[in-house]
Amino acid sequence: MSVVLSARNLTRHYEVSRGLFKPHALVRALNGVSFELHAGKTLAVVGESGCGKSTLARALTLIEELSAGSLQIAGTEVAGASKSERKQLRREVQMVFQSPYASLNPRQKVGDQLAEPLLINTSLSRTERREKCRR
Ligand SMILES: Nc1ncnc2c1ncn2[C@@H]1O[C@H](COP(=O)(O)OP(=O)(O)OP(=O)(O)O)[C@@H](O)[C@H]1O
Ligand SMILES: [Mg+2]
Repeated sequence: MSVVLSARNLTRHYEVSRGLFKPHALVRALNGVSFELHAGKTLAVVGESGCGKSTLARALTLIEELSAGSLQIAGTEVAGASKSERKQLRREVQMVFQSPYASLNPRQKVGDQLAEPLLINTSLSRTERREKCRR
């Protein structure tokens, strides 16, 4: 089965201020996370509050840069990728929030909602967009 996303030793540290005249503290939000995501499979990340789940999700969706480690999305390395490469790769991953009220716009038809990212990110014609949404 093909690997769509491969993470090796993902690390994200934050320097946080502890106040005036005190040295910065280091928060190890992600500390060496490795896994592979296979096409058609679901992977769940479970852990106590503050263990780094949201930080991992932000790193995988390229909202946040990694401090270290290797992340490959559809075979392309994200670590060290240029701004334009990151922009391109962002089209390959996205968050879908659990709450339908946060994910879906109740004022729009489902077809229009599916078509919107295609309108923004591709040069497909109106007919092609509609066809793709139907599928
Ligand atoms: N921007 C940031 N600056 C400093 N520390 C941060 C930042 N973002 C997250 N952290 C810290 O990193 C750690 C991991 O946070 P994260 O939000 O990823 O945890 P989580 O597993 O999603 O928690 P929850 O289950 O409560 O949502 C926490 O200690 C958090 O305080
Ligand atoms: Mg969280």
